Amino acid sequence: MTWLTGNVALVTGGASGLGRTIAERFVEEGAEVVVLDRSQEKLNELKSKLGTQVAICCGDVRSYADNRNAVDIAVRHFGRLDTFIGNAGIWDYQTALADIDPERFDDAFSEVMGINVGGYLKGARAALPALLESRGSVVLTLSNAGFYSNGGGVLYTASKFAGVGLVKQLAFELAPHVRVNGVAPGPLASDLRGPESLGLHDQSIGNLPMAELVAQNSPLPDLPRAQDYVGAYVLLASSRHSRMTTGAILNVDGGIGIKGLTKPSGGEELFDRFCKGEEP
Ligand SMILES: NC(=O)c1ccc[n+]([C@@H]2O[C@H](COP(=O)([O-])OP(=O)(O)OC[C@H]3O[C@@H](n4cnc5c(N)ncnc54)[C@H](O)[C@@H]3O)[C@@H](O)[C@H]2O)c1
Repeated sequence: MTWLTGNVALVTGGASGLGRTIAERFVEEGAEVVVLDRSQEKLNELKSKLGTQVAICCGDVRSYADNRNAVDIAVRHFGRLDTFIGNAGIWDYQTALADIDPERFDDAFSEVMGINVGGYLKGARAALPALLESRGSVVLTLSNAGFYSNGGGVLYTASKFAGVGLVKQLAFELAPHVRVNGVAPGPLASDLRGPESLGLHDQSIGNLPMAELVAQNSPLPDLPRAQDYVGAYVLLASSRHSRMTTGAILNVDGGIGIKGLTKPSGGEELFDRFCKGEEP
């Protein structure tokens, strides 16, 4: 049996990158999925690949009406909504506070916060009646930047720390009816864009030398693929496997939080010692 048979999910930002892989994996696990994204082109591509188990909705997560429309599509097409996955986001390309032009500050703040935090809140609010009905759950995409410095600049980091707060507060407010959890992935070579207000909307994170950065800095030094992250969403969305899990955040970031001042103490030598016969 697949893990999400009968589950209907709404994934925001599901036309690209991590969200798209979540949608594909949910379909594989037997779910039906509505994808809300602002890229009509990428939505069409996804729909033609996944067919009738997916419905698409073009809109902006900053609009409550667009979130509401996506929820209505879920209920109209698939009869219910069990899982709201807030995932649409933008990155700030590690723009430091000192490098934000004070003239642009308000626009940049409201763009990053409006999408990364406001989008999650509006989506969760729009989904609430349907989730109460189904005793469903919310899963929010956070980031290593929600726990540690240097996963973004000051705006992105603040937005992802705020996301941690949303998980805790919403888990409290919606218990015992709706579970609320988060997934905090590490780096991914996706098409993640920057804020228009900082002139970074044409940048794509996939153009950065991520494999090199991960190899140098992560205890698990392989560059993660989106597929490496999505199992956490399947687990948290599954009421069978996560019935007692709420207010939790899975850090799936290659171990950034246990990084010491040196390379991991074991390293290659540990393998050689025990697996190449150097130690009986
Ligand atoms: N790529 C990384 O290194 C990384 C690391 C940690 C966390 N994340 C988080 O993962 C999530 C997904 O990012 P990704 O890397 O898959 O990027 P992506 O750009 O490939 O996918 C994000 C999707 O969100 C959509 N989107 C952006 N703003 C929107 C809006 N206002 N309304 C509707 N749709 C909108 C985009 O069109 C895109 O399809 C984000 O929340 C991001 O912060 C990414």
